[in-house]
Amino acid sequence: MGKNFIGLDTEKTAKLADSLNELLSNYQIFYMNVRGYHWNIKGDNFFELHVKFEELYDDLLLKIDEIAERVLTLGHRPAHAYSTYIERSEVPERKDVSDGKDAMENIVDSFAKLIGKQRALLNLAGEAEDEGTVALMSDYISQQEKTVWMYRSYLGH
Ligand SMILES: [Fe+2]
Repeated sequence: MGKNFIGLDTEKTAKLADSLNELLSNYQIFYMNVRGYHWNIKGDNFFELHVKFEELYDDLLLKIDEIAERVLTLGHRPAHAYSTYIERSEVPERKDVSDGKDAMENIVDSFAKLIGKQRALLNLAGEAEDEGTVALMSDYISQQEKTVWMYRSYLGH
């Protein structure tokens, strides 16, 4: 079992980097969906949701960069083409959404997908003794679980 330059198992790290790239693809599609919501939202809650969606996509963008740079830190290359993102994302593209409730419901569903993937990654990283990725996933999961609670409360669930 070979070790890489930061002392992690080479094979396990390659698997981890691949999962991180899959996660990155989901984030990129989710990010673009939320930008679409920010732009296209209509109705009584426009001002509130327009601002809320900007706060969300700004946060997603930070995480996108952190995930990509974690892949690089592990010695691999982050996915950087939209064709790859489309191919690998489980979060589907959303087009022409102007209804706030529809957007919010989709955001809650997308977070559920991301959280599930991050939990799987947390286990994979734990097995590989990759504390850096464990810590990153752990932060994302706890933050986003709280976000889901707030979005669901807004929706009256
Ligand atoms: Fe804007």
